[in-house]
Amino acid sequence: MINPEQGFTSGVIREADRFVGRYEDIRDCIKAINTELGLVAVYGKRGVGKSSILRQIQHMALGDYGLSKKSGLEREIPTRPRTYLTVYYTCDSMIRSGQDLLQRLCNDQDPEDGLLRLVPNDGKEIVEFARTKEVSLGADLKVVNWGSKGIESSKYARIIPNDIVQTFRNMVNAIVIHQVEKRMKRDGLLVLLDEFDVIKDKAGLGSLIKSLSSEKVKFGVCGIGRDLTDLVNDHASIERLLEEGAIHVKPMAEMELERIITRAEELFKGALSFSSTVKARIAKLSQGYPYLVQLFGKECVAVANKTSVNEIDDHVFDMVIEDIQSGRAFPTLEAMYQKAIGGSTDRQKLLWLLAEHKEEAPLYQDESGRIQLKKVRTDADVFDIPYVDQLLPRLIDANYGPILYREKQGVYEFLNPVFRVYVTLRNI
Ligand SMILES: Nc1ncnc2c1ncn2[C@@H]1O[C@H](COP(=O)(O)OP(=O)(O)OP(=O)(O)O)[C@@H](O)[C@H]1O
Ligand SMILES: [Mg+2]
Repeated sequence: MINPEQGFTSGVIREADRFVGRYEDIRDCIKAINTELGLVAVYGKRGVGKSSILRQIQHMALGDYGLSKKSGLEREIPTRPRTYLTVYYTCDSMIRSGQDLLQRLCNDQDPEDGLLRLVPNDGKEIVEFARTKEVSLGADLKVVNWGSKGIESSKYARIIPNDIVQTFRNMVNAIVIHQVEKRMKRDGLLVLLDEFDVIKDKAGLGSLIKSLSSEKVKFGVCGIGRDLTDLVNDHASIERLLEEGAIHVKPMAEMELERIITRAEELFKGALSFSSTVKARIAKLSQGYPYLVQLFGKECVAVANKTSVNEIDDHVFDMVIEDIQSGRAFPTLEAMYQKAIGGSTDRQKLLWLLAEHKEEAPLYQDESGRIQLKKVRTDADVFDIPYVDQLLPRLIDANYGPILYREKQGVYEFLNPVFRVYVTLRNI
């Protein structure tokens, strides 16, 4: 039996050896973390691969440039790259504002990624650890013992009641002096904030980050957005900070998607191989989304295990396609699908029409995915789907997804582009 996780994963890519492609983005990342003052902003569509890039930024910030070297970008690495200690925090929708965010950061007890772990105090035991298997270069700090006094850092960083901004500054200053400079001899502290887009009240976030950034403290924000204004709406205030740090993550080219499978073959160490036509088929069907390649890969392993083969050829892959069409292959996406159509075959047809709807601009250039309802209506007539206006509301209703997002009158977009691709796969 082959373990699918050995070659494929549907989670965020942490290890550099599973990370494929993204040559341009990696180059931008190198630049962004090596500028003295500046903010890093990683943005793009849902499921496109943003967090995986943010994790690679973390490796580089620690001085681990293994991935850049493997990508042939050795020349882009400065002779003396800037190195950091890092904090990685994933936001959630309970964080309403910048104040809330700082409050959370100041209380995050994650032993490997939290801010609090780095605040010096007497009892706490902090050790160095490497985030990658291979390198000892990229050491970060983690807590192995919070100490008998609990989390008592007031001696080093003054906690100011009712002033979270100042408390955060004090904590960060203590970290910079004691851990970044004295202990680890690094250039700065890098605070990476994933899912930054979910913060509801974005007013003032940009200027808050600007005021907290310095030569010693850099922020990296990451989230869903068509452009930077979706991440920080007062982005004018940080425009100059972003000159070298804006990284727009786009869907991947088919060649790169194929390389995810080739990399998986290497990780399976010869236990499983894919024919070149299957690789090409998977890459094409995934329409730019590495997540789908990973899901296809896993399903191929499942079928290979079931039928005791170790090469995925067209014949085996046809079975995978059958599993997808019947809704067996990708249960999470299938659950969304069933909830969306709500037992109506007409709505099922309409959903398919919407998913197949293409704007004139090619996917990789624009990747907008906007749907003009007017055109869909015309097609609905052709395919004999009645009552579009009665079928549509469920797809916009938050209780059933929502599947679509209404941009303006008559213009819609799939909230989750991976789901859109799934709808097309479900009906090939
Ligand atoms: N460079 C890559 N090489 C191989 N697989 C990748 C790469 N980038 C992303 N993936 C795969 O794609 C999927 C989505 O990646 P990731 O979670 O980083 O995307 P995201 O944009 O942060 O998603 P979300 O919008 O849901 O937060 C994961 O299954 C991951 O394994
Ligand atoms: Mg993510």
